[in-house]
Amino acid sequence: MSSNALNPTTSIQTGNPELDMKMGGGLPRASLTLIEGTSGAGKSVLTQQIMSGALHSGLSCTLFTSENTVKSLMVQMQSIDMNVLDYLLLRRLRVYPIALMRLGKNAPDMLLRAMHNEIKRDLLIVDSFTSAISHGVNGSRTLGFFETCKRLAGEGVTIIVTLHAGAIGNDFMSPIRSMCDANLVLRSSQDGQRLIKTLEVVKIRGASSSTGSIVGFEVEPGWGMRVIPISKARG
Ligand SMILES: Nc1ncnc2c1ncn2[C@@H]1O[C@H](COP(=O)(O)OP(=O)(O)OP(=O)(O)O)[C@@H](O)[C@H]1O
Ligand SMILES: [Mg+2]
Repeated sequence: MSSNALNPTTSIQTGNPELDMKMGGGLPRASLTLIEGTSGAGKSVLTQQIMSGALHSGLSCTLFTSENTVKSLMVQMQSIDMNVLDYLLLRRLRVYPIALMRLGKNAPDMLLRAMHNEIKRDLLIVDSFTSAISHGVNGSRTLGFFETCKRLAGEGVTIIVTLHAGAIGNDFMSPIRSMCDANLVLRSSQDGQRLIKTLEVVKIRGASSSTGSIVGFEVEPGWGMRVIPISKARG
């Protein structure tokens, strides 16, 4: 049974009220979300936050990760106070480490096949598709991958894909962004001694009020993503 306070049937929330408010109450269900950002910007932490929120509200999740083993994921999530081990043991959370880089040109197809097997789950997360991009997998193949994800989302599953936009050209990023129901962009920049992190909610279908909002945040050990005033984020 979902404990999702704002909208139990149509949104997925992180469980962090400030973050959820900035994201228009949560991500729509049966949708495709693109989370963009450079290395270290917070893509994995944000997906972990969303995954933890979804699990706590009663949803089932499958994570395809090119970055973690099951063990390193549990350790990483515990370090930011997200303990999902029980869900893993109950199989409400399934984690598939997948060496996308080693799969070469077959990476998108193999990933899609694995995702198709998990179509009955509530939430599928791919972190990160950047590892699938290689000589054999260019912008056009990436666009094709997103098109298929969009079709899968049409069947009722919610899909989140992380990607370092710099990995493919803008000619392909524009149609990919347009196709996605939600687009979140994470940025990390150095301002003197300070590292500033921001989350831009470029769009979320059905939550027009949040479109364009920018949130400053910090990743705090033992806590997770903490929203901070944007003026403070800017220094
Ligand atoms: N337990 C923690 N304590 C403090 N900071 C943390 C913790 N876990 C993650 N971080 C920080 O959160 C930030 C975001 O990391 P994250 O792994 O989400 O980036 P990313 O966008 O996924 O990068 P990449 O593209 O390299 O995978 C990093 O600066 C990282 O050091
Ligand atoms: Mg990552």
